[in-house]
Amino acid sequence: MAVYYDDKNKIFRLDTEKSTYVIGLSPEGYVGHIYYGARLYQEAAGYLLRMDEPPYTPSVNQREKSAFLDFFPMEYPTGGVGDYRESCFNVRNEKGCMGSEIFYVSHEVYKGKRGLEGLPASFGTEDEVETLEILCEDPILKLQVYLSYSAFEKENIITRSVRIVNMGVQTLKLEKVYSACLDMDDEKFRMLTLCGAWARERHIQECEVHYGKQMVSSAKGETSHQEHPFMALVTPGTNQVQGQVYAMNFVYSGNFIAQAERTQFDSVRMVMGIHQEEFSWNLKPSDTFQAPEIVLTYSGEGLGQMTRNYHDFYRNHMIRSPYLHKKRPILINNWEATYFDFDTEKLLSIAREAKACGIEMLVMDDGWFGERNSDDSSLGDWTVNEKKLQGGLRHLVEEVNAIGLDFGIWFEPEMISPNSELYRRHPEWAIQIPGREPTQSRSQLVLDLSRPEVLDYVYESVAVILRSANISYVKWDMNRQLSDMGSTYLDKDSQQELFHRYVLGVYALQERLVTEFPNLLLENCSGGGARFDPGMLYYSPQIWCSDDTDAIERLMIQEGTALVYPLSTMGAHISDCPNHSVGRSTPFETRGHVALAGTFGYELDITKISEQDRRMIPEQVRMYHKYHELIREGDYYRIASYRENHTHDCWAVSSRDKKEVLVTYVHVLGNVIAHSRKIKLQGFRPEARYCLEGTDLVFTGEMLMQGGFLISGLRGDYTSRLYHFIME
Ligand code: GLA
Repeated sequence: MAVYYDDKNKIFRLDTEKSTYVIGLSPEGYVGHIYYGARLYQEAAGYLLRMDEPPYTPSVNQREKSAFLDFFPMEYPTGGVGDYRESCFNVRNEKGCMGSEIFYVSHEVYKGKRGLEGLPASFGTEDEVETLEILCEDPILKLQVYLSYSAFEKENIITRSVRIVNMGVQTLKLEKVYSACLDMDDEKFRMLTLCGAWARERHIQECEVHYGKQMVSSAKGETSHQEHPFMALVTPGTNQVQGQVYAMNFVYSGNFIAQAERTQFDSVRMVMGIHQEEFSWNLKPSDTFQAPEIVLTYSGEGLGQMTRNYHDFYRNHMIRSPYLHKKRPILINNWEATYFDFDTEKLLSIAREAKACGIEMLVMDDGWFGERNSDDSSLGDWTVNEKKLQGGLRHLVEEVNAIGLDFGIWFEPEMISPNSELYRRHPEWAIQIPGREPTQSRSQLVLDLSRPEVLDYVYESVAVILRSANISYVKWDMNRQLSDMGSTYLDKDSQQELFHRYVLGVYALQERLVTEFPNLLLENCSGGGARFDPGMLYYSPQIWCSDDTDAIERLMIQEGTALVYPLSTMGAHISDCPNHSVGRSTPFETRGHVALAGTFGYELDITKISEQDRRMIPEQVRMYHKYHELIREGDYYRIASYRENHTHDCWAVSSRDKKEVLVTYVHVLGNVIAHSRKIKLQGFRPEARYCLEGTDLVFTGEMLMQGGFLISGLRGDYTSRLYHFIME
């Protein structure tokens, strides 16, 4: 059993293999946080709620209720009544006043986990997960608040979500509904987040948690390039192998906030949820609002364990695609090869050469529809441009299939170009504030996905194409962030629902897609990696990581991404040099080793690259066939970080039984390693002996991990090596 209730002491407890989470009730029924951390083996006690210390609990000392509320470690703090720390839940009543208080009513414990209406969410069998649902009520507003906690024992994960039901007779305005709060005592925490920009997504950032509020957030309508719905609080000195880590990740693909707040009493409140900016929701009598899920994990063994908890969890309990455990086809995408300038013959010439090198799928990117010869037009007009694709799409796909490749296609379904047939017919379908010229980005506007007929139009536009030919893969792109938040469909009081309704619309569309086309390999994308989050993983097993395909820039992008997400989810391609984003030239071999840490593919004009590079492709293809399973299913270890040391990068993937370990080393700077570099590896069994493939060398796991491995013989910047260790 993972969930227990101690009725005598009013204590709830959730256990995973290595962590315990404890919740207690005050005499009034406030739901308080007692403990989260290393697994407890003895019974948990409630004294940490400090019920006997001043300020006394309100039923004893009504006079100082505010002091109590501003101090008590709340599981789900409500706003407006005297807890001046960040609230998670703000409700405005019909009279226009904001304030709410919730008290325990009852609870339910059950094996398994229920889905969340309209939202992506983790899942598990009755053997894998157990759920606690605490029902609280605001007796004045007649509002029910369900706090859900699910314990995934093996992965050391606790998920949380919140559901609100209006049982009263007045329409309430929900002005803030976050999904989780963690009130802890400060341990001189440092805060770890993932930040960046277009072509520089998810770089790891660390800083001290100081008094006041520190947050990362997005109010852009999507997860964003700039900030990420992930936060970890770590004790000082935490590294890959030691330190305590409390992490939250949000299963949502829209506006979010992740915040840490150090208070006057040296406690720390960590919250996460849908950003309250430009959010409100009308909750009519009998209506329900479901807030998205948070994935919490605790590691007492540093960041490496946190990472492996998340990787296992997303692979086992979030990704549904049939490709999850299957080899992904090696694809070649024509974006950096041709941009908008291609036709059937050009694509077929790429396909022929690709086939000769062992590549398995051709993906036709942007530019195949409407009058799209640049990014100035045609989004929304999803009809094949037969001037480019002479003979039509079906003909092209048949020819590509005849060459022996699968076929994939690019869409950007959520968008509308002002210069499109669709916009001329339906200008009101674009998100806009009436009377104000909407702001364009990349010459495009965003479709109003709160409108049911827009959802149908968008879905059918994609589905008709997919039904028309043998298409195995879709890249679903989204190339601008939202602004001018107005809908000609929603009424005046519901305009602030648009951001969330938009995200629900995206989820509804992708759900329809994977339902009608269950064998489709779906890859999400957003101007590179701006919508890389667990919500999207529920629909697609892989997401394009970044438009920056430079192998060295990718080291930092992939390090940050892999801090939370499995390697099998990271879209990574070998592109041409000088790199189109940064102008750098790196060896073809290094580009291959870096892309191997993701889904692996090509994004270049294979008919034009040098003969020397092209000759390396069959060898790289063999490398992918040899290692794809290990990389997709294995345990990931971060060994050294170029971001930190400015000279080299190193990671390892170890099979679950540790019989095989693949180490990738990239020598970034400092032309020659004069002496070999000693590097302490991870991921081996200490007592076992390992042969280094291709040599006569044999090492014990202990020596490799405690003593180190010598990297030698690398010559020149940007060179790299793969080392494959096999247990004797
Ligand atoms: C985005 C994607 C690219 C490419 C272009 C096409 O930027 O990230 O990979 O598909 O759009 O316009």
